[in-house]
Amino acid sequence: MVLKQLLAVRKMSSTVNLSALRLKYREKKEVFLEENIRVKEPITLFREWLDQALQTEELLEPNAASLATVDRNGKPSNRFVLLKDVTDDGFRFFTNYGSHKAQDIACNPNVAMTIYWLPLRRQIRIEGVAEKIPQEDSLAYFHQRPRASQIGALASEQSTRIPSRTHLDEIEQEIKAKLGPDGEVPLPNWGGYLIRPHTVEFWQGQTDRLHDRIQFRRGPDIEREVDGKLVHKGELGWVYERLAP
Ligand SMILES: Cc1cc2nc3c(=O)[nH]c(=O)nc-3n(C[C@H](O)[C@H](O)[C@H](O)COP(=O)(O)O)c2cc1C
Repeated sequence: MVLKQLLAVRKMSSTVNLSALRLKYREKKEVFLEENIRVKEPITLFREWLDQALQTEELLEPNAASLATVDRNGKPSNRFVLLKDVTDDGFRFFTNYGSHKAQDIACNPNVAMTIYWLPLRRQIRIEGVAEKIPQEDSLAYFHQRPRASQIGALASEQSTRIPSRTHLDEIEQEIKAKLGPDGEVPLPNWGGYLIRPHTVEFWQGQTDRLHDRIQFRRGPDIEREVDGKLVHKGELGWVYERLAP
């Protein structure tokens, strides 16, 4: 029904009119309140929202997350990655350690990650510090991946210039010939990062645009900011606060 209405608005105009696109968000009775947060720290809440996202059929890739990094000159860039694990310490993703994003992180480990789950009208923003995970963890995950993906990762020096698509296919063929059908694919310059979060915001969209935003923060001396009115004490060293939408 919602999809039909949205498509009808799109068809009304032969030219693109983005200002008229307005998706219906959540109703008043579905607001996201502080008392709905069972454990007042963001990792547990993230896992609960992720569980709901995983149960939402329309969400084909609920672990797709945009990752923003900043280079040595302060220039930001942004791309999607797949979130591969959520531990008590933070959020893990995997990539090439020579890539653009990895070079940014080497100069400046401050990163931001955003996830948007449209059918749930929910966004999660994570800000934190990225660090490489232990190599044995990267190796274990690398060999869990389909062999073709392992070879693909080995064939691609991510973010470097290449002359053509054929060039990539040739490298892939060379690797396959060298390894034979069963040879173990060596770990390329590739592995995981853990983002240790210091700020996590949970956003839920409302139809009247008075969206709910609850932000968790942690850091040295942060609990001194707790006043019980705007800033509230959470668990495990976190504080939380409601932000205007
Ligand atoms: C949905 C989606 C998921 C992706 N997941 C990853 C990933 O987990 N790791 C990765 O290195 N690239 C992933 N990519 C490709 C990146 O967006 C990007 O093109 C690549 O990492 C090179 O980025 P960089 O040059 O900024 O380092 C994904 C792309 C999409 C669209």
